[in-house]
Amino acid sequence: MVEQTLIVIKPDGVQRKIVGAVLSRFENRGFTIQKMKMLTFTTAQAENFYSPHKEKPFFPGLVKFITSGPVVAVVLEGRTGVDAVSVVRSMIGATKSYEAAAGTIRGDFSLGLEDNVIHASDSAENFKRESKIVF
Ligand code: CMP
Repeated sequence: MVEQTLIVIKPDGVQRKIVGAVLSRFENRGFTIQKMKMLTFTTAQAENFYSPHKEKPFFPGLVKFITSGPVVAVVLEGRTGVDAVSVVRSMIGATKSYEAAAGTIRGDFSLGLEDNVIHASDSAENFKRESKIVF
């Protein structure tokens, strides 16, 4: 069981000034901000971060979008026995924001697919891999 996970508030979330609103959701739920960093992804960092998608047709557009402006990367820590990866994934909602349930972050803040406000690690392995790239 891994009690930590990584989120990245994407360039659309920073540009729309909803960083505080998004982080409040996790703090209100009981997560602690363990690390936080604002950065602008280089192309090499973005290609590495999203390497599981490198064969997908949307990969070039995804890299272009995530490097288009600053992002906020945050390691969130829950509590012992709580799977942070799955709780946080349930809070962000479906990848296609227009299909995300109301009450989720994407469901409440976005209609986008590329510009879907937030990324969250989908496994403990990806949490470790992605964290090394951004921190
Ligand atoms: P994210 O959770 O950051 O993981 C990969 C990202 O690719 C996803 O969110 C979307 O923002 C983006 N993406 C762009 N086009 C697509 C697509 N057709 N299907 C899935 N993800 C896509």
